[in-house]
Amino acid sequence: MLAKVAVVGAGNVGATAAQRLAEKNLARTIVMVDVVEGVPQGKGLDQWQSGPIEGFDTRIIGSNNYDEAMGADVFVVTAGIARKPGMSRDDLVKTNAGIVRSVGEQIARVAPKAIIVVVSNPLDVMCYVAMKASRFPRERILGMAGVLDTARYRTFLAEALDVSVQDIQAMVLGGHGDTMVPLVSYTTVSGIPITQLIDKSKLDEIVTRTRNGGAEIVAFLKTGSAYYAPSAAAVQMVEAIALDKKRILPCSAWLQGEYGLRDVFCGVPCRIGRKGLESVIEVTLTSAEREELHKSAEAVRSTQAVVDA
Ligand code: LAC
Repeated sequence: MLAKVAVVGAGNVGATAAQRLAEKNLARTIVMVDVVEGVPQGKGLDQWQSGPIEGFDTRIIGSNNYDEAMGADVFVVTAGIARKPGMSRDDLVKTNAGIVRSVGEQIARVAPKAIIVVVSNPLDVMCYVAMKASRFPRERILGMAGVLDTARYRTFLAEALDVSVQDIQAMVLGGHGDTMVPLVSYTTVSGIPITQLIDKSKLDEIVTRTRNGGAEIVAFLKTGSAYYAPSAAAVQMVEAIALDKKRILPCSAWLQGEYGLRDVFCGVPCRIGRKGLESVIEVTLTSAEREELHKSAEAVRSTQAVVDA
């Protein structure tokens, strides 16, 4: 169990993540920080009082002040605006870069040794903003996208095959956007290559639905984006850190030559433990997958340039 985890942003993703962290007993104290007065305090108090029923002793505190998060081991950054129907994640870049920049600076001030799990969109570029603002090494900046995108892909595959979602192993790499890369060559059902179990047109349909998974939900909700699966994905990453699990999860990482990519955040298989990003795993890709991964990384790079401008 970690001593303290801070969640920045007490909106739907942040508050749901805080609740999940408590229910999984991953931290002794959870601090939810938000700029809106009263909201983190009110939600935090409500969540804390679910402890006797859910069986956790975690103290959940809401605050408008980063000092409360002093020395936190991990920060989950969800701050920023969410997209509305018809918007792409990149449409959020200017507004959210300003927010995430100040969050990164505050984290560096109150918890210079923390690990940051970024959830704000556009995800990969917000990782870049958080890294620059905090000046943390790449080992301590991780972006949550691949776990979510892979969960969507696994959900749709399990439904199509009528098998347990537990038996679907898969990985979605690339940037968290329309160019993400579901790795069909590494998708198996209990070790059986997916291509032996499903026809190509159905698989293509599922890949497309996965790429549009976030937008499909935004179109229904209209005033916001998904939060149950995104918060679950972020918490799985925190769990890998808290329990030093050395899990292999697709996360956005600052690449330094891996996959032939440099100085760009992109979703790749990562080994996650108590130190954060413990290594990037390089797997062999088909030439089409490699090309798609590069295209996706270049899309991130061009939005990264927007925040540098
Ligand atoms: C999504 C948003 C959170 O994919 O990016 O639902």
